[in-house]
Amino acid sequence: MHLSGPLSGKWTVTSLGLLSILSTVFTPAVAVKEHDFKKCHQSGFCSRNRAFADHALAASSWQSPYTILPESGAFKDGQYQATILKTINDQGETVRLPITISFLESGTGRVTVDEEKRQKGEIELRHNSKARKERYNEAEKWVIVGGLGLDKKAKVESQDKTQLTVKYGPSSNFEAIIKFSPFSIDFKRDGISQIKFNDQGLLNIEHWRPKIEKAPEPEPEKKEGEETTEGEQKEEEKKEEPQGVDESTLWEETFGGNTDSKPRGPESIGLDISFVGFEHVFGIPSHASSLSLKQTRGGEGNYEEPYRLYNADVFEYILDSPMTLYGAIPFMQAHRKGSSVGVFWLNAAETWVDVVKAKDSKNPLALGLGSKTTTRTHWMSESGLLDVFVFLGPTPKDVVTKYAELTGTTTMPQEFALGYHQCRWNYVSDEDVKDVDRKMDKFKMPYDVIWLDIEYTDEKKYFTWDQHSFKDPIGMGEQLANHGRQLVTIIDPHIKNVDNYPVVAELKSKELAVKNKEGSIFEGWCWPGSSHWIDAFNPKAREWWASLFKYTSFKGTRENTWIWNDMNEPSVFNGPEVTMPKDNLHDGNWEHRDVHNLNGMTFNNATFHALKSRKPGELRRPFVLTRAFFAGSQRIGAMWTGDNMAEWGHLKASFPMVLSQGISGYPFSGADVGGFFGNPDKDLLTRWYQAGIFYPFFRGHAHIDARRREPYLMGEPYNTIIAAALRLRYSLLPSWYTAFHQAHVDGTPIIKPMFYTHPSEEGGLAIDDQFFVGNTGLLAKPVTEQDKESVDIWIPDNEVYYDYFTYNIIPTSKGKSVTIDAPMDKIPLLMQGGHIFARRDIPRRSSTLMKWDDYTLVVSVSKDGKHAEGDLYVDDGDSYDFEKGQYINRKFVFDGSAKTIVSIDAEGRETKSIKEGEWLKKMHGVSVDKIIVVGAPASLAGKKEVSVESGGKSWSASVEYNAAASSGRAAFAVIKKVAAPVGADFKINFA
Ligand SMILES: *[C@@H]1O[C@H](CO)[C@@H](O)[C@H](O)[C@H]1NC(C)=O
Repeated sequence: MHLSGPLSGKWTVTSLGLLSILSTVFTPAVAVKEHDFKKCHQSGFCSRNRAFADHALAASSWQSPYTILPESGAFKDGQYQATILKTINDQGETVRLPITISFLESGTGRVTVDEEKRQKGEIELRHNSKARKERYNEAEKWVIVGGLGLDKKAKVESQDKTQLTVKYGPSSNFEAIIKFSPFSIDFKRDGISQIKFNDQGLLNIEHWRPKIEKAPEPEPEKKEGEETTEGEQKEEEKKEEPQGVDESTLWEETFGGNTDSKPRGPESIGLDISFVGFEHVFGIPSHASSLSLKQTRGGEGNYEEPYRLYNADVFEYILDSPMTLYGAIPFMQAHRKGSSVGVFWLNAAETWVDVVKAKDSKNPLALGLGSKTTTRTHWMSESGLLDVFVFLGPTPKDVVTKYAELTGTTTMPQEFALGYHQCRWNYVSDEDVKDVDRKMDKFKMPYDVIWLDIEYTDEKKYFTWDQHSFKDPIGMGEQLANHGRQLVTIIDPHIKNVDNYPVVAELKSKELAVKNKEGSIFEGWCWPGSSHWIDAFNPKAREWWASLFKYTSFKGTRENTWIWNDMNEPSVFNGPEVTMPKDNLHDGNWEHRDVHNLNGMTFNNATFHALKSRKPGELRRPFVLTRAFFAGSQRIGAMWTGDNMAEWGHLKASFPMVLSQGISGYPFSGADVGGFFGNPDKDLLTRWYQAGIFYPFFRGHAHIDARRREPYLMGEPYNTIIAAALRLRYSLLPSWYTAFHQAHVDGTPIIKPMFYTHPSEEGGLAIDDQFFVGNTGLLAKPVTEQDKESVDIWIPDNEVYYDYFTYNIIPTSKGKSVTIDAPMDKIPLLMQGGHIFARRDIPRRSSTLMKWDDYTLVVSVSKDGKHAEGDLYVDDGDSYDFEKGQYINRKFVFDGSAKTIVSIDAEGRETKSIKEGEWLKKMHGVSVDKIIVVGAPASLAGKKEVSVESGGKSWSASVEYNAAASSGRAAFAVIKKVAAPVGADFKINFA
């Protein structure tokens, strides 16, 4: 959450009364102050790399100054190591850059370029800085959790003086052609180029250099539109960079009144990565932009700025923009009909990515494939190693799952976390919380979690309660628990710098906080006023952090209390770009510059682990929400898209954002329902609930200035409509949980865009406002525009589609759009033929209370009447016992020819072989009770009963058959009192 108006962003905190200002004065919402955040030309390394690119691309004679020394190279056990020489001046002086190209068992390639370490004393750090004198090389330590095994079968296919070709990959159909001079790599699949590195010669590794102090020279002429930076350099260094590059920011850089001391000088990396023959690229969240990324170097409809990845508190963000937001995942996939490939740029420093789509006249693909557009991307990071993983597909799923092998998959959540979350800044007292809890029941609106924002604390001191307003937090927690509900309290990384606060006293005495460039404790401003920041990169700090969450130390919390980490970009109100100075120091004396985008993840991870050790012997899955994130954060918990606004545009923008998260390995995501800032009208709020039920993370939230908007306050007909939407979410929870489990297993997105499910349908590749839910075949397109009473759904295939609510057969044709009526009380939701999904249809107050309810299966029969199948995954929703086999994983198959519906173990496990724990035993009493067959075959028509067989017994279940209606409604049958145990094999025979 973020304050609006003049108190936010850069403002100098001078004197008295800040606390009272923070908690009392609020101004109307105004859009983000764009000028608080850098544009590329205000970021020294971005502008240098862009100028480098312009220079290289303009000069016909440009030759990249990077060359592999062939005699330095050796290939062994799936890895090629060599030295790149970079020529740095006209005298032919060079620097040495070790390169390692690894071919991994998964078929993923990895290219890592470092810089040779300097002799001690060779380069002095400036300003007597204590910063580590190395390129940051620990991103891997935080991010990569597997998949690094080398492919011993990768082999050198051919080699001569100019290049080396390596064959690798699952069927040795991948190839890397490494050219020595200038250095470049061409990654091919089945002999066809997919991804090229340094094809345009934009590789730029700013090597370390001494600062040469020289007599002042006349100032270089400023380019138009360029801002004069304060503290401009009088000194100049030896001319090593190509002409046109702005050298004024090599050694120091000022923005918005803050000066970055840059003790190590310039050290950025840049590389062009071309996706040959690809028109669409996706990923690099988070941006409020389309799923298919736009071009960034101007032209009609394009952006002028590169996509930026620099976690920041960009509240009230503007839409349709490449501006950075709260989290960053430097993963991109490119897609065209027949091929999906991707790259993962493992670098946690500030990063910018230019995207240009070039019509390629001399495209070698002219041989076979039609597409002639190549997407050329240019990646620029401020510091660290060049470290890039290459995925050669060929399907979107291959790319996403290989990426997940490296960075991990979605955490298996608490089941309640998939329910509805009710939040606002702030529920003002424990009585207020209890009242909302009762009202939700009164209006029959299910929810699982109520949230407390910062005002529950005693003057923004985390781990304390405001004793006046929250007199009895335990009593509050108990009432919630009695309704099967949970509480989330916010805990942020800034620790109030004040006397008589043991938490800050320990943070200081144990030296566990982030340091400033001088090496003393960093002090900045956030919600509590003067604050210090825990350094979660430090293992001792994480250990200490864990101690604070014990039930015995964070008094007032209990088993149903969970945690929200906000402001962890980190947000520093008086810092540069509302964050920490880049020359701050973390554990190991790494500069904040190097680890900025990792910062939020390490903090969130510390909280996650803390929740695992609240009480000895209690091991439950933590629930934590984060605002800042990086590649790997999916292993920890949920994220949300930050401080959006109560506007239709923000509702609409949320789907491309959530879809982008999903295909970038982090699907547990959602946007604040209703919009954080401002007051949604009833139509908007209602539509937002109807849409929000499709966010994997589903939370309503509101700013402290916003009017109360708990969903039951809308009056009729809205209350009823919202309650119906909430119930739809709740009835489908078994299917959502199954989709989460699939994401947990292999990184599959939870809601899936058309390019992912139908990669060969070119008409769907750019669609980002409709999606399938898991493997259910449910195709949703929420209404996101004002006064809209219908939506056009694009149909990706020749299957039959039924309306979810009426079972009407939708008149469709592949590749065309069909208009679906959607008055205010209607959610546009179709069922694709060929699927079976599970529901729990008894309405209850919370998911916890549905734990032992029977299931309904919905069978949507395929167009040919023959087939449908689907999955159901169930476990206790709370512990880690599922890792020890304590789960149910069923596969249901409808066979129209054999006239059966069967349930088998999805993994082919022998049911008897599982030693059942308490939960599994209890699940014997839970059945598939009802089966609804939509598109029911005629063989069900004459029947009153069908036979059910399970566990060596058989019995009959009743059938109610409804013939197809002239309204367009499909024939459907309801099989009742099936009474087949959900965890066991069963067979229903309707022959
Ligand atoms: C998360 O915390 C654990 C336990 O302290 C640690 O081993 C791990 O490296 C941390 N990972 C991240 C991403 O911070």
